Amino acid sequence: MSVGRAVARVNLDAITCNCERLRAELAEGVRLCAVVKADAYGHGAIESARAAVAGGATWLALASVAEARELVGEVEARLLVLGPLRLAEVEEAVLLDMDVVAWQEDLVAFAGELARDVGKAARVHVKLDTGMGRFGVRDPARASRVVAAAAAHPHVELVGVMTHFATADERGDAFFGEQLRRFAQWAGEIKRAHPHVLAHAANSAAVLRDPAAHFDMVRCGVAVYGMDPFGEDPLARDLEPALELSSYVAAVKRCGPGESTGYGRRFLAQAETHVGLLPIGYGDGWRRGLSNNGEVLVAGRRRPLVGTVSMDSVAVDLGPDPGVLELVDEPAVLVGRQGEERITAEDVARRLDTINYEITCGLTARVPRVHRSNAGMERLAGEG
Ligand SMILES: Cc1ncc(COP(=O)(O)O)c(C=O)c1O
Repeated sequence: MSVGRAVARVNLDAITCNCERLRAELAEGVRLCAVVKADAYGHGAIESARAAVAGGATWLALASVAEARELVGEVEARLLVLGPLRLAEVEEAVLLDMDVVAWQEDLVAFAGELARDVGKAARVHVKLDTGMGRFGVRDPARASRVVAAAAAHPHVELVGVMTHFATADERGDAFFGEQLRRFAQWAGEIKRAHPHVLAHAANSAAVLRDPAAHFDMVRCGVAVYGMDPFGEDPLARDLEPALELSSYVAAVKRCGPGESTGYGRRFLAQAETHVGLLPIGYGDGWRRGLSNNGEVLVAGRRRPLVGTVSMDSVAVDLGPDPGVLELVDEPAVLVGRQGEERITAEDVARRLDTINYEITCGLTARVPRVHRSNAGMERLAGEG
């Protein structure tokens, strides 16, 4: 397959295996909802969703109706829209049988009326804000009133009750336990009155951290893609990174003492060396904060990134050996493995003082996603 300047190769089998690995943490009957919002954290939504379902996910979570619409008819799973909804979105969600999150009685009533008009039932999950301080209501009594409104409406199906943790990835933090206690108490009361309701709270970190947080369903994103929710080495938790980002050495040039490469002359050669130029830059999501602050694998060795990251290119120091002039056209791995060496999204995130999520979500549409699975076939995103 011919790819251009840079490519993100996504191993769909890794996504399937990571889902199986997460399910192994869960008690019998606990459902796995794979979070595939933001184009599956940059991995390609449709292909990743199918791979997650192959690994046992029965639910898929998206941020908006627009994201969920992309998956309708493409994959066999319940679609849960996590985000806040505009009224026009509620209508489409009801028509397309999506599950929605609500925390306002009037939204539940509106969804119910719409559903009645089209002969359906609106599927609703009520959100309690146990401490994240984002969407959902903080007062359990108010949340219970929303639950009661949903349960009472003939065209609303009360499907779930949920919350979201603020600090599950900060091990040792006591607030996680506090949120868990608040949710368990409220969800317990709700389930006594409505035993069929699915309680769900856990993200990837909570799944790996505390079985008491699993309830009836877990919502995992980052770990599905083989990234570590605690920002550590994913392999240590048996997670397999699914995405590899690579480019190639498009040119090699001699750089004598005092000569520079890139904007602002931020790299000045101290001694004779060669710079390799890779056609990937911040226009692809390889951030400018990696200027003079990163590594790339070329010919099985780690090479330092030098100079300022441009929109379309970046330079690496290949050293003084003139033999490196032969490295033109060699693959360059920015995230992934080459020989014995490995660079993870977590490594890149640490350099940028951010989280692994942002590294893969930040890859722009200019980087083609190529998906591969066990048949060994590669397919460019959007191809058949
Ligand atoms: C409401 C909600 N649930 C679950 C997740 C998945 O979290 P993670 O990717 O940490 O597993 C997210 C992600 O942001 C979320 O917003």
